[in-house]
Amino acid sequence: MIKGKHLIEVNDFSLEEIEDLLDFADTIIQDQSKYAGLCKGNLIATLFYEPSTRTKFSFESAALRLGAKVIGFADAMTSSVSKGESLVDTIQTISCYADLIVMRHPKEGAPRLASKYSQVPIINGGDGGHQHPTQTLTDLLTIRALKGSLSNLTIGLCGDLKFGRTTHSLTKTMLRYPDIRFIFISPEELRISEYIKEEIGRDRYEETNSLDNNIGKLDILYMTRIQKERFFSEQEYLRLKGYYILDNNKMRMAKKDMIVMHPLPRVNEIAAEVDHDDRAVYFKQARYGMYIRMALIAKMLGKGE
Ligand code: NCD
Repeated sequence: MIKGKHLIEVNDFSLEEIEDLLDFADTIIQDQSKYAGLCKGNLIATLFYEPSTRTKFSFESAALRLGAKVIGFADAMTSSVSKGESLVDTIQTISCYADLIVMRHPKEGAPRLASKYSQVPIINGGDGGHQHPTQTLTDLLTIRALKGSLSNLTIGLCGDLKFGRTTHSLTKTMLRYPDIRFIFISPEELRISEYIKEEIGRDRYEETNSLDNNIGKLDILYMTRIQKERFFSEQEYLRLKGYYILDNNKMRMAKKDMIVMHPLPRVNEIAAEVDHDDRAVYFKQARYGMYIRMALIAKMLGKGE
């Protein structure tokens, strides 16, 4: 039962709870109109201290499609944060108004702190380079729907694995499923964090710079953008920005049933020509993101069947 729980990282939920959520999202996909009034009378707050398109809009669309109402800000400087109000005070106040709070924050650990002071469930919509659990739930729903299972897969994660929270989050979660192998593809400077590698164990991952030499082994290629806003120097960012560009030439080396995922936004790491390849599923993934958030909101409010 996830009713009343916070979601700060996916591991806050058991595998049964995750499966239950994925199943409920699938049920919603079958007949969305049936759930149009499920959360009527509920109010969701979205507090975004960092920019967002998909996470914020998909949460808001999900809430509105369930009949809930939404309040919030997309720029903390339009709130009392600009007067110097602390996160803890903002949360204590908003949790008097809303039934559920979705927040994104540049500081790692901010949602965990917020959860200690909130009277209502908190959903982490991304904290710094740390975790992004609802993106991971989106990814799980996408993988299960398009690959048929969450086990026995070789997953290549490519790009900025150091600062990217989506890859940290996805890796930690996929580790819990059987027969998952990871290939981490990144420049030396943007290698995935040591603590993640330690958790995985040496026999389950490879680390490499080369997308060309590895793309043919993959069931899933998870592309990510270089996280400009987390770099200390513009020069360093510019140097690494064009490191990987997935184009049709590279796609020719991939398996016929490999899928290409990306949490989006894309900058230049996937050429637009790849969008026409059936294996490119990143926009479908964005749609799955709305359905899993519908399931999540409903279940956290104790409304899902
Ligand atoms: C990601 C994020 O914010 O971490 N975007 C998203 O929520 N889909 C990925 C990114 O910004 O690169």
